[in-house]
Amino acid sequence: MFLVTGATGSLGRRVVHLLREREESVRAFVRLNARYGDLADRGADIFVGDLENERDIARSLRGIRYVISTHGAGRDATALMYRANIELIEQSKAQDVEHFTFVSVLGADRGYEDAPTFKAKRVVESYLQGSGVNYTILRPSGFANNLLPLAERFRDTGFYLLIGDPENRSSIISTDDLARITADSARNEAARQQVLAVGGPEIIQRGDIPKIFSRIYQREPFVVNIPLPLFDGARGLLGAFNPDAERDLGTLRTLLANEFFCTSEQVAQVEAIYGLKLESLEQFLRRYSG
Ligand SMILES: NC(=O)c1ccc[n+]([C@@H]2O[C@H](COP(=O)([O-])OP(=O)(O)OC[C@H]3O[C@@H](n4cnc5c(N)ncnc54)[C@H](OP(=O)(O)O)[C@@H]3O)[C@@H](O)[C@H]2O)c1
Repeated sequence: MFLVTGATGSLGRRVVHLLREREESVRAFVRLNARYGDLADRGADIFVGDLENERDIARSLRGIRYVISTHGAGRDATALMYRANIELIEQSKAQDVEHFTFVSVLGADRGYEDAPTFKAKRVVESYLQGSGVNYTILRPSGFANNLLPLAERFRDTGFYLLIGDPENRSSIISTDDLARITADSARNEAARQQVLAVGGPEIIQRGDIPKIFSRIYQREPFVVNIPLPLFDGARGLLGAFNPDAERDLGTLRTLLANEFFCTSEQVAQVEAIYGLKLESLEQFLRRYSG
């Protein structure tokens, strides 16, 4: 049986759906207040718990062969990204789990000091690598589904808010392709003990996104570009009243200020290991735009 954490998240939900389509047995780790009816309807074993609770983690792992960690950090990277994953790895080892797939992030190894999620991901990666548990570490770039609400707003208004340098490059990954890669890692020998950068097949500049929307919805874009120093100023001002909120924005600041893309060699490596052709951002958005 698979255990999927973050099963109600944008990636985890897709992973559970995919595994159930293949009639795999799956336990979905969910919180009580989350929306998980679709997972239950598809035959997933629903485990209600909290990843901040070690006993819940231990209980969720009973009888599990493969672990897939896709949960997010929320506002507490230390508790959720760091401690919960370390506990999942420890318990996986104690319970002889065969394989652990950890969804990290592209750039986890770059030492961004201002980004607690990135720092926690890197520590967890190292811990998993030294744990003796079989693993696959996936380092995805930004997910394409993040853009769906922005695309809908663009469709209705033509408006696009661009924060930071429009020439910054990224290779946004189709969340559906990533779900397939995540679901396939446990049984893919070529993915064993690998750390893989996972991005879409093309490198785009941030300023290309409203152009893609414009092609899909056939309307002129109205782009408002907020330069990074303005964002920093607002963040600093917020910090004067609420230092926690300022710190929480560190990961977003890191995402806005840096480039996250994969080389063509990295794309080819992932396509070869998983036997798929990665879709572009435009293909993903067109599928969802109906
Ligand atoms: N989104 C991106 O662009 C991106 C890029 C690179 C890497 N990643 C990584 O990829 C993974 C998946 O991202 P995502 O965007 O799919 O995440 P997401 O949509 O934000 O989902 C987060 C999931 O974690 C669950 N969760 C949060 N706190 C929990 C707790 N205390 N106990 C149990 N479950 C808890 C949430 O449950 P609720 O539904 O109850 O809130 C939800 O299912 C994450 O590890 C993320 O860091 C994301």
